[in-house]
Amino acid sequence: MRSAHWYGGKDRDGFIHRAWMRRGLPKDAFDGRPHIAIANTASDLTPCNSHLNEVMEYVKNGIWEAGGVPLNMPAVSLGETLVRPTAMLWRNMAAMATEELIRANPIDGVVLLGGCDKTIPSLLMAASSVDIPALVVPGGPMLTGTFQGTPLGCGTDVFRLSEEVRAKKLSEAKFLDSESAMIRSRGHCNTMGTASTMGIMAEALGMVIPGIAGTPAPDSRLLQYSQESGRRIVEMVHEGLKPSDIMVKGSFLNAIVALAGIGGSTNAVVHLLAIAGRLGIDLTLDDFDRTGSRVPLLVNLQPAGKYLMEDFHRAGGLRAVFKELEDLLDPKAITVLGTPLVKGLSEAEIYDTDVIRSRKEPLQPSAGIAVLRGNLAPLGAVIKPAAASANLLKHRGKAMVFDSIEDFKARINDPNLDVDENSVLILRGCGPKGYPGMPEVSNMPMPQKMLDKGVRDMVRICDGRMSGTAYGTVVLHVAPEAAAGGPLGLVQTGDFIELDVEARTLNIDVSDADLAARKPNTATVDGFAKSARGWQKLYIDHVMQADTGCDLDFLVGSSGEHISRESH
Ligand code: FES
Repeated sequence: MRSAHWYGGKDRDGFIHRAWMRRGLPKDAFDGRPHIAIANTASDLTPCNSHLNEVMEYVKNGIWEAGGVPLNMPAVSLGETLVRPTAMLWRNMAAMATEELIRANPIDGVVLLGGCDKTIPSLLMAASSVDIPALVVPGGPMLTGTFQGTPLGCGTDVFRLSEEVRAKKLSEAKFLDSESAMIRSRGHCNTMGTASTMGIMAEALGMVIPGIAGTPAPDSRLLQYSQESGRRIVEMVHEGLKPSDIMVKGSFLNAIVALAGIGGSTNAVVHLLAIAGRLGIDLTLDDFDRTGSRVPLLVNLQPAGKYLMEDFHRAGGLRAVFKELEDLLDPKAITVLGTPLVKGLSEAEIYDTDVIRSRKEPLQPSAGIAVLRGNLAPLGAVIKPAAASANLLKHRGKAMVFDSIEDFKARINDPNLDVDENSVLILRGCGPKGYPGMPEVSNMPMPQKMLDKGVRDMVRICDGRMSGTAYGTVVLHVAPEAAAGGPLGLVQTGDFIELDVEARTLNIDVSDADLAARKPNTATVDGFAKSARGWQKLYIDHVMQADTGCDLDFLVGSSGEHISRESH
Protein backbone atom coordinates (compact mmCIF):
# COMPACT_ATOMS: atom_id res chain seq x y z
CA MET A 1 0.00 0.00 0.00
CA ARG A 2 1.11 3.51 -0.79
CA SER A 3 -0.02 4.55 2.71
CA ALA A 4 2.48 2.08 4.24
CA HIS A 5 5.24 4.54 3.31
CA TRP A 6 3.80 6.78 6.02
CA TYR A 7 2.41 4.30 8.52
CA GLY A 8 4.52 1.19 8.11
CA GLY A 9 7.76 2.08 9.88
CA LYS A 10 8.74 1.47 13.49
CA ASP A 11 10.82 4.63 13.61
CA ARG A 12 9.95 8.13 14.79
CA ASP A 13 8.29 9.09 11.51
CA GLY A 14 5.96 6.09 11.55
CA PHE A 15 5.15 6.85 15.20
CA ILE A 16 4.23 10.46 14.34
CA HIS A 17 2.15 9.52 11.29
CA ARG A 18 0.14 6.95 13.23
CA ALA A 19 -0.15 8.74 16.54
CA TRP A 20 -1.74 11.88 15.12
CA MET A 21 -4.28 9.80 13.20
CA ARG A 22 -5.33 7.74 16.24
CA ARG A 23 -8.19 10.04 17.07
CA GLY A 24 -10.84 7.43 16.55
CA LEU A 25 -8.87 5.20 14.23
CA PRO A 26 -8.10 1.82 15.84
CA LYS A 27 -4.59 0.40 15.95
CA ASP A 28 -5.33 -2.08 13.16
CA ALA A 29 -6.23 0.81 10.82
CA PHE A 30 -2.49 0.87 10.12
CA ASP A 31 -1.98 -2.83 9.48
CA GLY A 32 -1.69 -2.41 5.71
CA ARG A 33 -5.34 -1.90 4.79
CA PRO A 34 -6.21 0.65 2.07
CA HIS A 35 -6.65 4.24 3.17
CA ILE A 36 -9.24 5.93 0.96
CA ALA A 37 -9.70 9.67 0.68
CA ILE A 38 -13.12 11.00 -0.15
CA ALA A 39 -12.50 14.18 -2.17
CA ASN A 40 -15.60 15.97 -1.03
CA THR A 41 -16.83 19.17 -2.70
CA ALA A 42 -19.66 19.74 -0.22
CA SER A 43 -19.95 23.42 0.60
CA ASP A 44 -22.69 25.77 1.75
CA LEU A 45 -21.51 28.06 -1.04
CA THR A 46 -22.02 25.31 -3.61
CA PRO A 47 -25.70 24.63 -2.96
CA CYS A 48 -25.84 21.95 -5.67
CA ASN A 49 -23.30 19.93 -3.64
CA SER A 50 -24.47 20.68 -0.10
CA HIS A 51 -25.84 17.14 0.36
CA LEU A 52 -22.50 15.50 -0.36
CA ASN A 53 -21.63 15.23 3.33
CA GLU A 54 -24.48 12.72 3.68
CA VAL A 55 -23.37 10.93 0.51
CA MET A 56 -19.88 10.78 2.02
CA GLU A 57 -21.17 8.99 5.13
CA TYR A 58 -22.53 6.19 2.96
CA VAL A 59 -19.31 5.99 0.95
CA LYS A 60 -17.50 5.69 4.28
CA ASN A 61 -19.78 2.82 5.34
CA GLY A 62 -18.89 0.96 2.17
CA ILE A 63 -15.16 1.54 2.64
CA TRP A 64 -15.24 0.26 6.25
CA GLU A 65 -17.31 -2.74 5.17
CA ALA A 66 -14.74 -3.70 2.54
CA GLY A 67 -11.86 -3.43 5.00
CA GLY A 68 -10.60 0.05 4.08
CA VAL A 69 -10.16 3.21 6.12
CA PRO A 70 -12.24 6.18 4.87
CA LEU A 71 -10.95 9.72 5.24
CA ASN A 72 -12.90 12.86 4.42
CA MET A 73 -10.79 15.20 2.31
CA PRO A 74 -12.62 18.50 1.67
CA ALA A 75 -11.77 19.72 -1.82
CA VAL A 76 -12.05 23.13 -3.45
CA SER A 77 -15.69 23.61 -4.34
CA LEU A 78 -17.12 25.90 -6.99
CA GLY A 79 -20.73 27.09 -6.91
CA GLU A 80 -21.61 27.89 -10.49
CA THR A 81 -24.16 30.58 -9.78
CA LEU A 82 -22.16 32.43 -7.14
CA VAL A 83 -18.46 32.30 -7.91
CA ARG A 84 -17.12 35.38 -9.71
CA PRO A 85 -16.07 36.29 -12.26
CA THR A 86 -16.82 32.77 -13.54
CA ALA A 87 -16.31 29.35 -11.98
CA MET A 88 -14.26 28.32 -15.02
CA LEU A 89 -11.47 30.67 -13.90
CA TRP A 90 -11.04 28.44 -10.85
CA ARG A 91 -11.52 24.96 -12.41
CA ASN A 92 -7.79 24.49 -12.94
CA MET A 93 -7.01 25.84 -9.48
CA ALA A 94 -9.43 23.32 -7.96
CA ALA A 95 -7.87 20.57 -10.08
CA MET A 96 -4.35 21.59 -9.07
CA ALA A 97 -5.22 21.78 -5.36
CA THR A 98 -6.95 18.39 -5.37
CA GLU A 99 -4.13 16.79 -7.36
CA GLU A 100 -1.55 17.97 -4.85
CA LEU A 101 -3.71 16.95 -1.86
CA ILE A 102 -4.12 13.44 -3.23
CA ARG A 103 -0.40 13.13 -3.91
CA ALA A 104 0.73 14.68 -0.64
CA ASN A 105 -1.36 12.47 1.64
CA PRO A 106 -1.05 8.84 2.74
CA ILE A 107 -3.87 7.47 0.63
CA ASP A 108 -4.20 4.46 -1.65
CA GLY A 109 -7.37 5.39 -3.50
CA VAL A 110 -9.83 8.24 -3.81
CA VAL A 111 -13.58 8.61 -4.20
CA LEU A 112 -14.52 11.79 -6.02
CA LEU A 113 -17.75 13.48 -4.92
CA GLY A 114 -18.92 16.22 -7.27
CA GLY A 115 -22.03 17.65 -8.83
CA CYS A 116 -22.13 21.34 -9.75
CA ASP A 117 -20.60 22.08 -13.14
CA LYS A 118 -16.84 22.39 -12.54
CA THR A 119 -16.54 19.99 -9.65
CA ILE A 120 -16.52 16.64 -11.48
CA PRO A 121 -14.17 17.93 -14.24
CA SER A 122 -11.68 19.32 -11.73
CA LEU A 123 -11.75 16.11 -9.66
CA LEU A 124 -11.22 13.93 -12.73
CA MET A 125 -8.35 16.13 -13.95
CA ALA A 126 -6.73 15.84 -10.51
CA ALA A 127 -7.15 12.07 -10.22
CA SER A 128 -5.83 11.61 -13.75
CA SER A 129 -2.62 13.49 -12.98
CA VAL A 130 -1.92 11.41 -9.85
CA ASP A 131 -3.24 8.13 -11.26
CA ILE A 132 -4.07 6.17 -8.14
CA PRO A 133 -7.32 4.14 -8.07
CA ALA A 134 -10.28 6.50 -8.22
CA LEU A 135 -13.98 6.50 -8.90
CA VAL A 136 -16.68 9.16 -9.07
CA VAL A 137 -19.99 9.31 -7.24
CA PRO A 138 -21.99 11.99 -9.07
CA GLY A 139 -24.12 13.99 -6.63
CA GLY A 140 -27.14 13.82 -8.92
CA PRO A 141 -29.75 16.28 -10.17
CA MET A 142 -32.51 17.92 -8.17
CA LEU A 143 -36.17 16.94 -8.46
CA THR A 144 -38.43 18.81 -10.85
CA GLY A 145 -39.96 21.98 -9.47
CA THR A 146 -43.24 23.28 -10.87
CA PHE A 147 -44.65 26.78 -11.10
CA GLN A 148 -48.36 27.22 -11.66
CA GLY A 149 -48.58 23.66 -12.89
CA THR A 150 -45.65 23.86 -15.28
CA PRO A 151 -42.35 22.05 -14.71
CA LEU A 152 -39.37 24.35 -14.39
CA GLY A 153 -35.99 23.54 -15.84
CA CYS A 154 -33.38 25.43 -13.88
CA GLY A 155 -31.20 27.54 -16.08
CA THR A 156 -33.12 27.00 -19.31
CA ASP A 157 -36.38 28.34 -17.88
CA VAL A 158 -34.64 31.27 -16.22
CA PHE A 159 -33.44 32.34 -19.67
CA ARG A 160 -36.87 31.66 -21.18
CA LEU A 161 -38.85 33.46 -18.47
CA SER A 162 -36.54 36.47 -18.37
CA GLU A 163 -36.83 36.81 -22.17
CA GLU A 164 -40.62 36.62 -21.77
CA VAL A 165 -40.48 39.50 -19.29
CA ARG A 166 -38.44 41.50 -21.81
CA ALA A 167 -40.92 40.61 -24.54
CA LYS A 168 -43.71 41.77 -22.13
CA LYS A 169 -45.37 38.36 -22.19
CA LEU A 170 -44.84 37.75 -18.47
CA SER A 171 -45.10 40.19 -15.57
CA GLU A 172 -42.05 40.85 -13.45
CA ALA A 173 -44.04 39.88 -10.34
CA LYS A 174 -44.80 36.43 -11.75
CA PHE A 175 -41.21 36.03 -12.85
CA LEU A 176 -40.03 36.72 -9.30
CA ASP A 177 -42.69 34.38 -7.90
CA SER A 178 -41.26 31.52 -9.94
CA GLU A 179 -37.96 31.94 -8.05
CA SER A 180 -39.25 30.04 -5.03
CA ALA A 181 -40.28 27.06 -7.19
CA MET A 182 -37.18 26.79 -9.36
CA ILE A 183 -35.00 24.76 -6.95
CA ARG A 184 -37.17 22.02 -5.52
CA SER A 185 -34.62 19.92 -3.68
CA ARG A 186 -30.99 19.15 -3.04
CA GLY A 187 -28.95 18.31 -6.16
CA HIS A 188 -27.62 20.08 -9.22
CA CYS A 189 -29.51 21.65 -12.14
CA ASN A 190 -32.17 19.35 -13.52
CA THR A 191 -31.78 20.14 -17.21
CA MET A 192 -29.23 18.47 -19.48
CA GLY A 193 -26.87 21.27 -18.48
CA THR A 194 -23.21 20.98 -17.67
CA ALA A 195 -23.58 19.26 -14.29
CA SER A 196 -25.93 16.55 -15.62
CA THR A 197 -23.72 16.19 -18.66
CA MET A 198 -20.51 15.81 -16.68
CA GLY A 199 -22.02 13.21 -14.33
CA ILE A 200 -22.98 11.25 -17.43
CA MET A 201 -19.58 11.87 -19.05
CA ALA A 202 -17.89 10.45 -15.94
CA GLU A 203 -19.95 7.27 -16.30
CA ALA A 204 -19.39 7.10 -20.06
CA LEU A 205 -15.64 7.39 -19.42
CA GLY A 206 -15.94 4.38 -17.14
CA MET A 207 -15.26 6.25 -13.90
CA VAL A 208 -18.66 5.63 -12.27
CA ILE A 209 -20.24 2.28 -11.41
CA PRO A 210 -22.53 1.80 -14.45
CA GLY A 211 -26.10 2.93 -13.94
CA ILE A 212 -25.51 5.48 -11.19
CA ALA A 213 -25.14 8.78 -13.10
CA GLY A 214 -28.36 10.74 -13.25
CA THR A 215 -29.80 9.28 -10.03
CA PRO A 216 -31.61 12.24 -8.44
CA ALA A 217 -29.84 13.61 -5.39
CA PRO A 218 -32.75 12.94 -2.97
CA ASP A 219 -33.36 9.41 -4.30
CA SER A 220 -32.55 6.75 -1.67
CA ARG A 221 -30.78 4.76 -4.33
CA LEU A 222 -28.03 7.38 -4.45
CA LEU A 223 -27.09 6.47 -0.88
CA GLN A 224 -27.14 2.75 -1.71
CA TYR A 225 -24.94 3.38 -4.74
CA SER A 226 -22.62 5.48 -2.58
CA GLN A 227 -22.14 2.57 -0.21
CA GLU A 228 -21.48 0.23 -3.16
CA SER A 229 -18.95 2.73 -4.52
CA GLY A 230 -17.19 2.74 -1.16
CA ARG A 231 -16.87 -1.03 -1.29
CA ARG A 232 -15.68 -0.97 -4.87
CA ILE A 233 -12.86 1.54 -4.40
CA VAL A 234 -11.27 -0.75 -1.81
CA GLU A 235 -11.38 -3.63 -4.31
CA MET A 236 -9.91 -1.35 -6.98
CA VAL A 237 -6.94 -0.60 -4.73
CA HIS A 238 -6.32 -4.33 -4.25
CA GLU A 239 -6.62 -4.84 -8.02
CA GLY A 240 -4.41 -1.81 -8.84
CA LEU A 241 -7.04 -0.47 -11.25
CA LYS A 242 -6.09 3.11 -12.06
CA PRO A 243 -7.66 5.99 -14.04
CA SER A 244 -5.16 5.45 -16.85
CA ASP A 245 -6.30 1.81 -17.17
CA ILE A 246 -9.92 2.91 -17.48
CA MET A 247 -9.84 6.19 -19.40
CA VAL A 248 -8.28 5.34 -22.75
CA LYS A 249 -8.96 6.92 -26.13
CA GLY A 250 -11.93 4.60 -26.73
CA SER A 251 -13.49 5.75 -23.44
CA PHE A 252 -13.35 9.36 -24.61
CA LEU A 253 -14.94 8.39 -27.91
CA ASN A 254 -17.67 6.61 -25.92
CA ALA A 255 -18.17 9.81 -23.94
CA ILE A 256 -18.48 11.76 -27.20
CA VAL A 257 -21.15 9.31 -28.42
CA ALA A 258 -22.98 9.80 -25.13
CA LEU A 259 -22.61 13.59 -25.36
CA ALA A 260 -24.36 13.58 -28.73
CA GLY A 261 -27.03 11.06 -27.78
CA ILE A 262 -28.05 12.99 -24.67
CA GLY A 263 -27.77 16.45 -26.27
CA GLY A 264 -25.21 17.40 -23.62
CA SER A 265 -23.55 20.68 -22.82
CA THR A 266 -20.90 22.26 -25.05
CA ASN A 267 -18.86 22.72 -21.88
CA ALA A 268 -18.13 19.00 -21.98
CA VAL A 269 -15.86 19.69 -24.96
CA VAL A 270 -13.36 21.73 -22.95
CA HIS A 271 -13.62 19.46 -19.92
CA LEU A 272 -13.07 16.22 -21.83
CA LEU A 273 -10.13 17.75 -23.72
CA ALA A 274 -8.60 18.85 -20.40
CA ILE A 275 -9.05 15.43 -18.75
CA ALA A 276 -7.59 13.71 -21.83
CA GLY A 277 -4.65 16.12 -21.70
CA ARG A 278 -3.90 15.02 -18.13
CA LEU A 279 -3.84 11.38 -19.26
CA GLY A 280 -1.67 12.05 -22.30
CA ILE A 281 -4.45 10.96 -24.66
CA ASP A 282 -4.45 12.52 -28.08
CA LEU A 283 -8.04 13.76 -28.14
CA THR A 284 -8.77 16.64 -30.52
CA LEU A 285 -11.67 18.90 -31.37
CA ASP A 286 -12.08 16.94 -34.60
CA ASP A 287 -12.79 13.75 -32.63
CA PHE A 288 -15.96 15.43 -31.39
CA ASP A 289 -17.17 16.15 -34.90
CA ARG A 290 -15.98 12.86 -36.42
CA THR A 291 -17.42 10.65 -33.71
CA GLY A 292 -20.34 12.69 -32.43
CA SER A 293 -21.98 14.37 -35.37
CA ARG A 294 -23.41 11.15 -36.87
CA VAL A 295 -25.00 10.15 -33.56
CA PRO A 296 -28.77 10.68 -33.27
CA LEU A 297 -30.16 12.80 -30.47
CA LEU A 298 -32.22 10.41 -28.36
CA VAL A 299 -32.83 12.28 -25.15
CA ASN A 300 -35.73 14.71 -25.07
CA LEU A 301 -34.45 16.95 -22.28
CA GLN A 302 -34.19 20.70 -21.95
CA PRO A 303 -32.52 22.69 -23.40
CA ALA A 304 -32.73 20.69 -26.67
CA GLY A 305 -36.09 19.13 -25.78
CA LYS A 306 -38.84 18.97 -23.21
CA TYR A 307 -38.18 16.86 -20.12
CA LEU A 308 -35.88 17.04 -17.10
CA MET A 309 -33.36 14.78 -15.36
CA GLU A 310 -35.89 13.12 -13.05
CA ASP A 311 -37.69 11.97 -16.21
CA PHE A 312 -34.40 10.81 -17.75
CA HIS A 313 -33.68 8.62 -14.76
CA ARG A 314 -37.25 7.27 -14.69
CA ALA A 315 -37.00 6.46 -18.41
CA GLY A 316 -33.92 4.28 -18.02
CA GLY A 317 -31.01 6.75 -17.92
CA LEU A 318 -27.67 6.44 -19.67
CA ARG A 319 -27.73 2.64 -19.86
CA ALA A 320 -30.91 2.78 -21.94
CA VAL A 321 -29.33 5.38 -24.24
CA PHE A 322 -26.21 3.23 -24.58
CA LYS A 323 -28.26 0.16 -25.44
CA GLU A 324 -29.62 2.05 -28.46
CA LEU A 325 -26.15 3.21 -29.47
CA GLU A 326 -24.21 0.06 -28.61
CA ASP A 327 -22.79 -0.44 -32.10
CA LEU A 328 -21.11 2.99 -31.86
CA LEU A 329 -19.35 2.20 -28.59
CA ASP A 330 -15.84 0.86 -28.13
CA PRO A 331 -16.42 -2.66 -26.79
CA LYS A 332 -12.97 -2.77 -25.21
CA ALA A 333 -13.33 0.28 -22.97
CA ILE A 334 -13.79 -0.74 -19.34
CA THR A 335 -15.31 0.80 -16.23
CA VAL A 336 -14.34 0.98 -12.57
CA LEU A 337 -15.74 -2.55 -12.29
CA GLY A 338 -12.90 -3.73 -14.52
CA THR A 339 -15.36 -5.05 -17.10
CA PRO A 340 -16.41 -3.57 -20.46
CA LEU A 341 -18.78 -0.59 -20.46
CA VAL A 342 -21.00 -2.47 -22.88
CA LYS A 343 -21.34 -5.49 -20.55
CA GLY A 344 -24.96 -6.00 -19.53
CA LEU A 345 -26.38 -3.44 -21.95
CA SER A 346 -28.81 -6.01 -23.31
CA GLU A 347 -30.62 -5.84 -19.96
CA ALA A 348 -31.15 -2.06 -20.19
CA GLU A 349 -34.59 -0.83 -21.23
CA ILE A 350 -36.30 2.37 -22.23
CA TYR A 351 -39.30 2.85 -19.94
CA ASP A 352 -40.66 6.03 -21.55
CA THR A 353 -40.02 6.40 -25.25
CA ASP A 354 -40.96 10.06 -25.30
CA VAL A 355 -38.14 10.90 -22.87
CA ILE A 356 -35.55 8.54 -24.34
CA ARG A 357 -36.29 7.90 -27.98
CA SER A 358 -35.42 4.74 -29.83
CA ARG A 359 -32.76 4.79 -32.51
CA LYS A 360 -35.54 4.41 -35.11
CA GLU A 361 -37.39 7.50 -33.91
CA PRO A 362 -34.76 9.93 -32.68
CA LEU A 363 -35.44 13.49 -31.65
CA GLN A 364 -32.95 14.50 -34.35
CA PRO A 365 -31.18 12.16 -36.77
CA SER A 366 -27.75 13.61 -36.08
CA ALA A 367 -26.69 15.72 -33.16
CA GLY A 368 -23.44 16.28 -31.35
CA ILE A 369 -21.07 19.16 -31.68
CA ALA A 370 -20.11 20.62 -35.04
CA VAL A 371 -16.58 22.01 -35.28
CA LEU A 372 -16.22 25.03 -37.54
CA ARG A 373 -13.05 26.45 -39.04
CA GLY A 374 -12.24 29.33 -41.32
CA ASN A 375 -10.53 32.68 -41.32
CA LEU A 376 -12.59 33.73 -38.30
CA ALA A 377 -11.66 30.65 -36.24
CA PRO A 378 -8.40 29.14 -37.54
CA LEU A 379 -8.09 26.77 -34.54
CA GLY A 380 -11.78 26.00 -34.43
CA ALA A 381 -15.10 27.00 -32.93
CA VAL A 382 -18.07 24.88 -31.95
CA ILE A 383 -21.83 24.99 -32.38
CA LYS A 384 -24.51 22.68 -31.05
CA PRO A 385 -26.85 22.28 -34.02
CA ALA A 386 -29.52 20.59 -31.85
CA ALA A 387 -29.94 23.81 -29.86
CA ALA A 388 -29.81 26.10 -32.93
CA SER A 389 -32.48 27.32 -35.37
CA ALA A 390 -32.43 25.19 -38.53
CA ASN A 391 -32.94 28.22 -40.80
CA LEU A 392 -29.80 29.91 -39.43
CA LEU A 393 -27.38 27.02 -39.86
CA LYS A 394 -26.36 28.46 -43.23
CA HIS A 395 -26.28 32.21 -42.97
CA ARG A 396 -24.60 35.35 -44.29
CA GLY A 397 -25.10 38.56 -42.39
CA LYS A 398 -23.53 41.84 -41.32
CA ALA A 399 -21.53 41.86 -38.11
CA MET A 400 -22.55 43.96 -35.14
CA VAL A 401 -19.46 43.90 -32.95
CA PHE A 402 -19.27 44.36 -29.19
CA ASP A 403 -15.79 44.86 -27.74
CA SER A 404 -16.55 43.54 -24.26
CA ILE A 405 -19.43 42.31 -22.16
CA GLU A 406 -19.75 45.84 -20.73
CA ASP A 407 -19.99 47.30 -24.25
CA PHE A 408 -22.63 44.69 -25.07
CA LYS A 409 -24.72 45.51 -22.00
CA ALA A 410 -24.47 49.25 -22.68
CA ARG A 411 -25.69 49.08 -26.28
CA ILE A 412 -27.73 45.94 -26.90
CA ASN A 413 -31.08 47.54 -26.07
CA ASP A 414 -30.39 50.86 -27.79
CA PRO A 415 -33.38 51.44 -30.09
CA ASN A 416 -30.94 52.89 -32.64
CA LEU A 417 -28.70 49.82 -32.70
CA ASP A 418 -28.16 49.08 -36.37
CA VAL A 419 -29.32 45.45 -36.43
CA ASP A 420 -32.00 43.41 -38.13
CA GLU A 421 -32.85 39.70 -38.02
CA ASN A 422 -30.01 38.92 -40.45
CA SER A 423 -27.34 40.63 -38.38
CA VAL A 424 -24.64 38.55 -36.72
CA LEU A 425 -23.89 39.56 -33.13
CA ILE A 426 -20.21 39.29 -32.25
CA LEU A 427 -18.88 39.48 -28.72
CA ARG A 428 -15.14 39.30 -28.04
CA GLY A 429 -12.78 39.58 -25.11
CA CYS A 430 -14.58 36.69 -23.39
CA GLY A 431 -12.05 33.90 -23.95
CA PRO A 432 -9.87 32.17 -21.35
CA LYS A 433 -7.28 34.98 -21.26
CA GLY A 434 -9.46 37.90 -22.21
CA TYR A 435 -12.09 37.88 -19.50
CA PRO A 436 -10.34 35.92 -17.77
CA GLY A 437 -11.89 32.45 -17.40
CA MET A 438 -14.09 32.22 -20.48
CA PRO A 439 -17.49 33.06 -19.00
CA GLU A 440 -20.81 31.69 -20.21
CA VAL A 441 -21.89 34.76 -22.13
CA SER A 442 -21.91 33.53 -25.72
CA ASN A 443 -25.69 33.13 -25.80
CA MET A 444 -26.09 36.90 -25.77
CA PRO A 445 -29.62 38.15 -24.96
CA MET A 446 -31.39 39.36 -28.08
CA PRO A 447 -31.59 43.11 -28.83
CA GLN A 448 -34.84 44.56 -27.44
CA LYS A 449 -35.84 45.89 -30.85
CA MET A 450 -35.60 42.36 -32.31
CA LEU A 451 -37.65 40.88 -29.46
CA ASP A 452 -40.27 43.57 -30.08
CA LYS A 453 -40.39 42.39 -33.70
CA GLY A 454 -40.95 38.80 -32.57
CA VAL A 455 -37.43 37.59 -33.53
CA ARG A 456 -36.31 34.89 -31.06
CA ASP A 457 -32.95 33.80 -32.48
CA MET A 458 -30.04 35.35 -34.35
CA VAL A 459 -26.55 34.11 -35.21
CA ARG A 460 -24.23 34.94 -32.34
CA ILE A 461 -20.45 34.41 -32.29
CA CYS A 462 -18.18 34.64 -29.25
CA ASP A 463 -14.86 33.47 -27.84
CA GLY A 464 -16.56 32.61 -24.54
CA ARG A 465 -18.60 29.61 -23.44
CA MET A 466 -22.33 29.07 -23.15
CA SER A 467 -24.30 27.68 -20.25
CA GLY A 468 -25.21 24.06 -20.84
CA THR A 469 -28.79 25.05 -20.16
CA ALA A 470 -28.86 27.67 -22.94
CA TYR A 471 -30.04 27.42 -26.52
CA GLY A 472 -29.86 29.37 -29.79
CA THR A 473 -27.71 29.63 -32.92
CA VAL A 474 -24.55 30.34 -31.01
CA VAL A 475 -21.00 29.79 -32.29
CA LEU A 476 -18.73 29.64 -29.31
CA HIS A 477 -15.24 28.71 -28.08
CA VAL A 478 -13.78 30.63 -31.04
CA ALA A 479 -10.04 29.94 -31.05
CA PRO A 480 -7.74 31.67 -30.90
CA GLU A 481 -9.69 34.16 -28.82
CA ALA A 482 -9.36 37.89 -29.47
CA ALA A 483 -7.03 38.34 -26.48
CA ALA A 484 -4.67 35.69 -27.90
CA GLY A 485 -4.44 37.52 -31.22
CA GLY A 486 -7.28 35.70 -32.95
CA PRO A 487 -9.00 37.27 -35.97
CA LEU A 488 -12.17 37.71 -33.92
CA GLY A 489 -10.41 40.79 -32.55
CA LEU A 490 -10.17 42.27 -36.05
CA VAL A 491 -13.82 42.09 -37.15
CA GLN A 492 -15.49 45.44 -37.74
CA THR A 493 -19.17 46.24 -37.55
CA GLY A 494 -20.55 45.91 -41.06
CA ASP A 495 -18.21 43.11 -42.21
CA PHE A 496 -20.07 40.18 -43.72
CA ILE A 497 -19.87 36.91 -41.77
CA GLU A 498 -20.57 33.56 -43.41
CA LEU A 499 -21.65 30.57 -41.34
CA ASP A 500 -22.18 27.19 -42.97
CA VAL A 501 -22.62 24.43 -40.42
CA GLU A 502 -23.07 21.73 -43.06
CA ALA A 503 -19.73 22.71 -44.63
CA ARG A 504 -18.23 23.29 -41.14
CA THR A 505 -17.02 26.79 -42.04
CA LEU A 506 -16.99 30.16 -40.33
CA ASN A 507 -15.55 33.01 -42.36
CA ILE A 508 -15.36 36.74 -42.52
CA ASP A 509 -15.75 38.08 -46.04
CA VAL A 510 -12.58 40.17 -45.91
CA SER A 511 -9.47 39.37 -47.93
CA ASP A 512 -6.46 37.89 -46.14
CA ALA A 513 -4.43 40.97 -47.03
CA ASP A 514 -7.03 43.37 -45.61
CA LEU A 515 -7.40 41.28 -42.48
CA ALA A 516 -3.62 41.15 -42.00
CA ALA A 517 -3.44 44.94 -42.26
CA ARG A 518 -5.93 45.44 -39.44
CA LYS A 519 -5.10 45.86 -35.75
CA PRO A 520 -7.48 45.33 -32.81
CA ASN A 521 -9.04 48.63 -31.80
CA THR A 522 -8.21 50.28 -28.48
CA ALA A 523 -11.59 49.51 -26.92
CA THR A 524 -11.06 45.80 -27.59
CA VAL A 525 -7.55 45.73 -26.16
CA ASP A 526 -8.58 47.84 -23.16
CA GLY A 527 -11.29 45.29 -22.42
CA PHE A 528 -8.83 42.40 -22.02
CA ALA A 529 -8.09 41.27 -18.46
CA LYS A 530 -4.88 42.44 -16.90
CA SER A 531 -3.59 41.05 -13.66
CA ALA A 532 -0.36 41.69 -11.81
CA ARG A 533 -0.44 38.91 -9.22
CA GLY A 534 -2.04 35.83 -7.78
CA TRP A 535 -3.99 33.08 -9.46
CA GLN A 536 -5.36 35.38 -12.14
CA LYS A 537 -1.86 36.29 -13.30
CA LEU A 538 -0.78 32.65 -13.32
CA TYR A 539 -3.95 31.77 -15.20
CA ILE A 540 -3.68 34.48 -17.86
CA ASP A 541 0.00 33.73 -18.43
CA HIS A 542 -0.50 29.96 -18.82
CA VAL A 543 -4.06 29.15 -19.87
CA MET A 544 -4.37 27.35 -23.18
CA GLN A 545 -7.05 27.97 -25.77
CA ALA A 546 -10.47 26.32 -25.94
CA ASP A 547 -9.46 23.92 -28.70
CA THR A 548 -7.17 22.12 -26.24
CA GLY A 549 -9.34 22.34 -23.13
CA CYS A 550 -8.25 25.55 -21.35
CA ASP A 551 -5.92 23.80 -18.93
CA LEU A 552 -2.77 25.58 -17.78
CA ASP A 553 0.11 24.60 -20.04
CA PHE A 554 2.23 23.29 -17.15
CA LEU A 555 -0.61 21.13 -15.76
CA VAL A 556 -1.03 19.04 -18.90
CA GLY A 557 0.07 15.45 -18.29
CA SER A 558 0.74 13.58 -15.10
CA SER A 559 3.31 13.68 -12.30
CA GLY A 560 2.24 10.31 -10.98
CA GLU A 561 1.68 9.37 -7.37
CA HIS A 562 5.17 9.95 -6.03
CA ILE A 563 6.10 12.98 -4.03
CA SER A 564 9.42 14.53 -4.90
CA ARG A 565 10.85 14.29 -1.35
CA GLU A 566 10.03 12.31 1.74
CA SER A 567 8.93 14.47 4.66
CA HIS A 568 10.54 15.03 8.07
FE1 FES B 1 -24.90 24.00 -9.89
FE2 FES B 1 -26.37 24.41 -12.18
S1 FES B 1 -25.77 25.84 -10.64
S2 FES B 1 -25.39 22.66 -11.45
